[in-house]
Amino acid sequence: MSTAYYLSVTVHVLAAVVWLGGMLFFALVGAPVLRRVDDAALRAELFDRLGRAFRVVGWICIGLLVATGAFNLHARGWWGGAVWGSPAFWRSRAGVLLGAKLAAVGIMVVLAAVHDFWLGPRAGRAAPGSAEALRLRRTSAWVARLNALMGVVLVYVAARLARGG
Ligand code: HEM
Repeated sequence: MSTAYYLSVTVHVLAAVVWLGGMLFFALVGAPVLRRVDDAALRAELFDRLGRAFRVVGWICIGLLVATGAFNLHARGWWGGAVWGSPAFWRSRAGVLLGAKLAAVGIMVVLAAVHDFWLGPRAGRAAPGSAEALRLRRTSAWVARLNALMGVVLVYVAARLARGG
């Protein structure tokens, strides 16, 4: 295997670490600390600023994951019409795992988009301390937790895919 392949896998794993690690840090440490800030306006502003800053990092990671993931597929020989058009490939162990991985990636990207561009910003705009703000923040939090859980499942599938089974 080439140096470019190893560099691609390194960037891929680091992007997964930064994205998923950031989500888990926010769910387990950041959000619980922010929820204890008494001043409702300050609390809302902190959630909003952290959310917007992490959104940029998260989407850069998603871009890197897709680009390096495509490179990895190519390097592994899982690329091109001959492979993707072959029912035998999708029935093989690698094909099933790759299908599961791509489905999980698709779900994660949709959940991230709903959270980052719709629920999160709406929660930030709602009147601080209002019932509406609380409802939106709770829904955003559940979508984010679900996405972090999907990320953990995805790493399990990725580890099996990389080792052939
Ligand atoms: C379109 C998106 C993606 C594609 C096409 C893709 C493809 C791949 C491929 C082919 C490998 C195997 C590399 C090798 O060992 O040769 C791999 C490894 C890996 N992927 Fe992805 N991936 C994608 C997205 C993601 C996402 C979103 C995550 C996690 C959040 C992720 C986490 C990982 C990890 C942790 C490994 C290393 C597994 C190991 O070596 O144990 N990938 N990916």
